[in-house]
Amino acid sequence: MPPTDRPVPAGFRYLEWDSAHFGLPIARLLDPRLSQDGVRHALARAEQARLQLVYWPADPSLPVTDEWFAPWTGFLADRKMVYRRSLHGLSRPTTAPGPHDVTIDAFPPGPATPELVALAIAAGEYSRFRRDGRLGTARFQALYEIWIERSTRQELADLVLVASDRSGRTVGLATVALRDSVGDIGLLAVDASCRGRGVGTGLVTRALAWMQEAGASESTVVTQQDNLAACRLYGQLGYLPSEVSALYHLWSPTPNLP
Ligand SMILES: CC(C)(COP(=O)(O)OP(=O)(O)OC[C@H]1O[C@@H](n2cnc3c(N)ncnc32)[C@H](O)[C@@H]1OP(=O)(O)O)[C@@H](O)C(=O)NCCC(=O)NCCS
Repeated sequence: MPPTDRPVPAGFRYLEWDSAHFGLPIARLLDPRLSQDGVRHALARAEQARLQLVYWPADPSLPVTDEWFAPWTGFLADRKMVYRRSLHGLSRPTTAPGPHDVTIDAFPPGPATPELVALAIAAGEYSRFRRDGRLGTARFQALYEIWIERSTRQELADLVLVASDRSGRTVGLATVALRDSVGDIGLLAVDASCRGRGVGTGLVTRALAWMQEAGASESTVVTQQDNLAACRLYGQLGYLPSEVSALYHLWSPTPNLP
């Protein structure tokens, strides 16, 4: 995120992109190990600075309760889980991954199709931006639409894999970005009518093979601890949980009227 001139209290970083997208001043509270008093003082400063929403990635071992945030309203929007997998010794798939009636191909760089946009929005099913109803469904969906558009245009991803059924219908999506020898899976989704048939496994298996060929030594993916299907899928494919954080959304008691 680029630096900004907007004054924010010490201990916060103003989030320019999020603020513009959601149309309200948003900042991140930086210290994950604050005490209850530390949080209360920080939020008092945030209110003075007329911030409306604060993201707080907190150490999950802290005994946080709603009282920590009063008079702000806080809730645990995301139990974020980072999974990692070494690519050393990864064996190449000997057959085409995924069910036999589904093909998996790289999507050509360019604009996304409406089917891909719908799948990208489905990928955000457990996202904190969907869970936080105050941010609005339209803005949540627009976030994922921007994400897939910028991925197929190769700004946010180096590879977009698309799974198609025999009729040519798009039934799955995975995006991969390669940075410093790490292949990161960004979006992953399978159409609800095709889940539980190995399409997600096929997409991630193909993504892993591509990362290895591209010279990556490790793969990462971020998901939510509550997303059991995704956590089990990554676990079955050799990913191990490496970091957990508790991400709170804290809303100001003072509406920032225009
Ligand atoms: C997560 C998702 C991509 C899985 O795709 P899928 O094609 O259904 O997955 P697969 O059929 O390859 O299943 C692979 C493994 O995942 C796990 N899994 C899949 N669906 C599951 C479910 N509903 N409950 C529990 N585990 C599940 C199982 O361990 C399964 O292995 P098994 O069939 O041997 O039990 C799909 O459920 C989805 O699109 N969910 C909504 C979007 C999302 O959450 N994306 C992930 C963002 S990080």
